[in-house]
This record gives sequence, structure tokens and C-alpha cells, in this order.
Amino acid sequence: VTHFSSSNQPKELLEVVKNIEIELESRLDTLALPENLSKAAKYAVMNGGKRVRPALSILCCEAVGGTIEQAMPAAIAVEFIHCFSLVHDDLPAIDNDDLRRGQPTLHIKYGEAMAVLAGDLLLPIAYSQLFSETFTTKQQATLTKLLANATSDMVIGQVYDTLGGLPKHLNEQEQLEEIHRNKTGALIQCACEMGAICGGATEEQFNAISTFGRANGLLFQIVDDLIDLHGSTEHVGKATGKDEVAGKTTYPGTIGVEESKRAVQELQKQAESALSTLRTGAETLVSFNLWMAHRTR
Ligand code: IPE
Ligand code: IPE
Ligand code: MG
Ligand code: MG
Ligand code: MG
Repeated sequence: VTHFSSSNQPKELLEVVKNIEIELESRLDTLALPENLSKAAKYAVMNGGKRVRPALSILCCEAVGGTIEQAMPAAIAVEFIHCFSLVHDDLPAIDNDDLRRGQPTLHIKYGEAMAVLAGDLLLPIAYSQLFSETFTTKQQATLTKLLANATSDMVIGQVYDTLGGLPKHLNEQEQLEEIHRNKTGALIQCACEMGAICGGATEEQFNAISTFGRANGLLFQIVDDLIDLHGSTEHVGKATGKDEVAGKTTYPGTIGVEESKRAVQELQKQAESALSTLRTGAETLVSFNLWMAHRTR
């Protein structure tokens, strides 16, 4: 596995990401699957992703006083959902992309039928993580509801992005925000909220993490739009310069590059100030959030 993308992440995170990788792979290894499906599922997951969402779950759990072990099953769950969303996002019927995380996309490697089905598989696999014995019954129920809602929002966002159907009463900029908050923001916010639940957050802590996650989630997709515009395929590991050609609704395309960068700065500040009420160690979370605002892939 080539970690083409993790080199510029905060150093404290390298160990966390390594643990996430180990856990993802060992979960996939426990599944009794036909060899072709097993290979495809591993190809979809163990391929050098940045692991932003599971890292957020873990850091948010720690920020409310929990441990990495407490957050790990939820962290893995959200990454499985994310990987499924990428496999389907790349399909010819959606974004039609040939390159993902520096390698041929799943449908290029194993065919479209397998890409559809391997994506389908990752969905139940994700939910099964949430019934881990490390959680109380109440935590299991809360986590399942959070992830189910965020997964639905992601699908709704993908429909808005690809097929339209946005509420008519929204103006252009509100529609743009609605697409991004659904297709990408919801799952990132959920990753943060699940981390807080795993760490046994108080209501006040949960609300702080939720506000942090909401700002951070929108920020993430605006940065993704900017990277599509300015990044090279070689550096980013996926085709760039595609959004405009495909007629996608993006932040730089709608409000311009400078305004988009300003929005990122504003959201980064919002995210950071949401954390100021947490008395435990949110330093790594703050530096991770800064990295998310300035990342180039
Ligand atoms: C890409 O997500 C798709 C979006 C939702 C913007 P990431 O940039 O987190 O992709 P990986 O997981 O690191 O490949
Ligand atoms: C992806 O948005 C959102 C998903 C739910 C996967 P993009 O289509 O912009 O993501 P990339 O640029 O292909 O990674
Ligand atoms: Mg897309
Ligand atoms: Mg895409
Ligand atoms: Mg993109």
C-alpha cells in the first residue's frame, strides 16, 4: 500500500492512521467472502486513503476524555461507508473516474458489476462494527442512528450533485451549500459526533463537537473543490480539473476562488472556536483541523 497522501499530515497522527489501517484490514480479514469479492473489498479500502474521518472520530473521542480503543469500531465504520461512497462515486454513471488514491478505480480494475457489489458489501459491514461489545446498548443505538442518517444524507447529496432535485426555494448559494453539506459534510460531522459518543461526552461536549464537525465537514468539500481546480493528478492521486468540464456545482465555480478561500478560513475559525469550551486535550484536533483547511490533496 502506498501512503501517497499521508506525508503532510500532522506527525501525531501517523501512529493513529497506522492503527486504523491495521484495524480496517483485520476486520476485512474476518469476513467469510468469496475470493473475488474479498479482493475487491480490500482494493476499495486498503489503498492509501488519508483516513480523515476515522482520525476525526478518534481525536473527537480523545477531546472529550475518551481513548483511541473506545472510538476504533465507530472510526472503522465511518471509513467503510466513505470507501463505499467513493467506489460508487467513481462509477461511469456518476463521476466516471479512472483513478482514485493513485490507482485505477475499482470498476476499471474488476469491472462495474463488482464495483457496485463491493460498494454494497461495505455498507452492512460498516453497521456491523457498531455492535461491538466495547459499546453500551445505548451507545450502539445512538451510533447506528447517527451513521444511518449521515449515510442517507450522503446519498441525497450525491443525487443533488449528479441528478439535481434540490428544494426550489433555495437560492444558488444555498443550493451549493446544501449539496456540499449533504454529500460530504454530513459524514464528516457524523465521524466527529460518533467519536464524542464513544468517549462518553456530556451534552455540552457533544454539542461542541457537533458544531466543530459541521463547520469542518463543509470546509472539507470546499477544499476538495479547490484541489480539483488547482491540483495536479500526480499529486492528488485522482483526476483533477474535472468538475468544471462535468458541469459540477462547486464553490470556486459559483462564488470564485478568493471567496471560496475566505469561506474555508471562516469555517476553520468557526470549527476552532467550537472546541474552545472543551477542557480536555483538543490540541491535536485543532492542528488537524488546520491541516484540513490547508491540505493540497
Ligand atoms: C474524497 O474524500 C471525497 C470527498 C468526499 C471530498 P477524501 O479526500 O477524504 O479521500 P481519501 O479517503 O483520502 O481518498
Ligand atoms: C464526493 O465528491 C462525495 C462523495 C460522497 C463520494 P467528489 O465527487 O467531489 O469527490 P472526488 O473529488 O471524486 O473525490
Ligand atoms: Mg462526485
Ligand atoms: Mg467524484
Ligand atoms: Mg471532488
